[in-house]
Amino acid sequence: MDRVSVSEQMDTATSQTAAEAGRRRTFAIIAHPDAGKTTLTEQLLLLGGAIQIAGAVRAKGERRRTRSDWMKIEQDRGISVATSVMTFEYAGQVFNLLDTPGHEDFSEDTYRTLSAVDAAVMVIDAAKGIEAQTRKLFEVCRLRDIPIVTFINKMDREAREPLELLDEIEKTLALDVTPATWPVGSGGTFAGVYDRHDNSLRLVAEGGERREALDGPEDARIDGLLPHGQGDVLREGMELASVYPEFDLASFREGHLTPVYFGSALRGFGVRHLLDGLAQFAPPPSARRADARTVAPEEEKLTGFVFKIQANTDLNHRDRVAFLRICSGRLRKGARLKQVRTGKSIPVNAPLFFFAKERQVAEEAWPGDVVGIANHGVLRIGDTLTDGEALNFRGVPSFAPEILRRVRLDDPMLAKKLRKALDQLADEGVVQVFRPLDGSQPVVGVVGQLQLDVLSSRIQAEYGVHITFENTSWSSLRWVATKEDGPQDRAVLDRFLRTAPSQMAEDHDNEPVAFFTSDWGRKRAEEEWPQLRFLALREQH
Ligand code: G4P
Repeated sequence: MDRVSVSEQMDTATSQTAAEAGRRRTFAIIAHPDAGKTTLTEQLLLLGGAIQIAGAVRAKGERRRTRSDWMKIEQDRGISVATSVMTFEYAGQVFNLLDTPGHEDFSEDTYRTLSAVDAAVMVIDAAKGIEAQTRKLFEVCRLRDIPIVTFINKMDREAREPLELLDEIEKTLALDVTPATWPVGSGGTFAGVYDRHDNSLRLVAEGGERREALDGPEDARIDGLLPHGQGDVLREGMELASVYPEFDLASFREGHLTPVYFGSALRGFGVRHLLDGLAQFAPPPSARRADARTVAPEEEKLTGFVFKIQANTDLNHRDRVAFLRICSGRLRKGARLKQVRTGKSIPVNAPLFFFAKERQVAEEAWPGDVVGIANHGVLRIGDTLTDGEALNFRGVPSFAPEILRRVRLDDPMLAKKLRKALDQLADEGVVQVFRPLDGSQPVVGVVGQLQLDVLSSRIQAEYGVHITFENTSWSSLRWVATKEDGPQDRAVLDRFLRTAPSQMAEDHDNEPVAFFTSDWGRKRAEEEWPQLRFLALREQH
């Protein structure tokens, strides 16, 4: 093959990668529990045809169904412990919806998942407005300037005034809002919404909604289409809406402006509109920063990173699936990828695609896609996989946990087994594990009690080791790093770590951390050691 044809071939490959990447929309839904995330997810899958295909036997290359089981604890508690990925096609685009656990005790999982999306839908309960978990998740999106589309849900119930809700979003999140639609009534009087983009009324109708094109909010036909008196209410509302800025794509994509849709996931109202908005505005995969360089999605060489490990998706096989977000290039079935952290070559013989609770082997996957790679504990969260290049994506975050517990082992003979169990479960991100420098029993850090329950029940079930947890006097920890990377600074760090080895530990990646019993103690250390940095967030690599 001569050189020209090789380069021509490469151009074709690159343009195919660019085209496939260009039609991917990878997003997550963020919401406070009960706001309607699950209901909205179902509605989106319905529109994307991902639910109807359940049970269908399809030809090669299409979706085939095998049920995956949830881990036992999840069934017992009815809580979605695991994050899953759902792929569907709509309007010529491939949507990858990355689901996140609703329970706040698993918020770390959610934070990691948000590192793998390009956009988010923020669901707000129209009666409650912004709630605690909405705010927290939003802040994580803001860290990465993730563009956000807002869906104000449950308009079929008594709701707060639209203006009040929009003001609350604007003020509490410091985020510009632009109502894409304006609701007419709420609860029993909810008649539909006015679409500010195309000047139409979308009316609540049998089986969903009915669209009536209008000349504008002053169009007299409105009074005939809405129940008595509602036309005036709408016109007043539209006047209020006019104070908000017009939609601006650049501002949205930079994460500064959110278009707001009003609807009812339960009634299927406003969901198609929301999905159309996502299709039109949400960004395709963009260039991602790695340590060595910035990686563009259309590059031919494959790169990606692991943001999630899910164990026991199939209880019969005791498997462990690593979720790889592809950042560039084409992944082909049977490829061997380099695990940059270890230099190992990882065979990807059967990359899995996920459709709700189904999975199928993918022949190929593109930037924006998320594939599952079954492995036996080789891959861990934060791992970068490439075609061979040594680069690491950053951005899978670890937050300093505030609940720190000492692990107690009933049978000291099982210490080695416990070590292995903790290592593997830390690889999966179930908890964070810290090993004190004085050699005492390991400490685990979590966001909520449920994580501890999951940890002890899995260690018992999968490793046959019984553990309990003991309170510690610590209320926080910080990763400790040098400001500069010179030998002198490293000597300072060593000196700091030796000041109180029982208060210091190494995390799962052997990075040093310090435990603190009070904010005061932490501040004092920060003052006394100005050459060091005390970090509440660590980006894994
Ligand atoms: P989540 O995943 O965010 O936690 O919320 P989920 O979808 O499970 O919804 C929480 C509750 O709110 C459910 O009621 C659900 O039916 C209801 N809901 C969701 N969207 C709407 C909506 O647009 N309008 C109204 N009126 N209700 C909505 P539940 O009683 O807890 O459960 P279920 O018995 O209805 O399943």
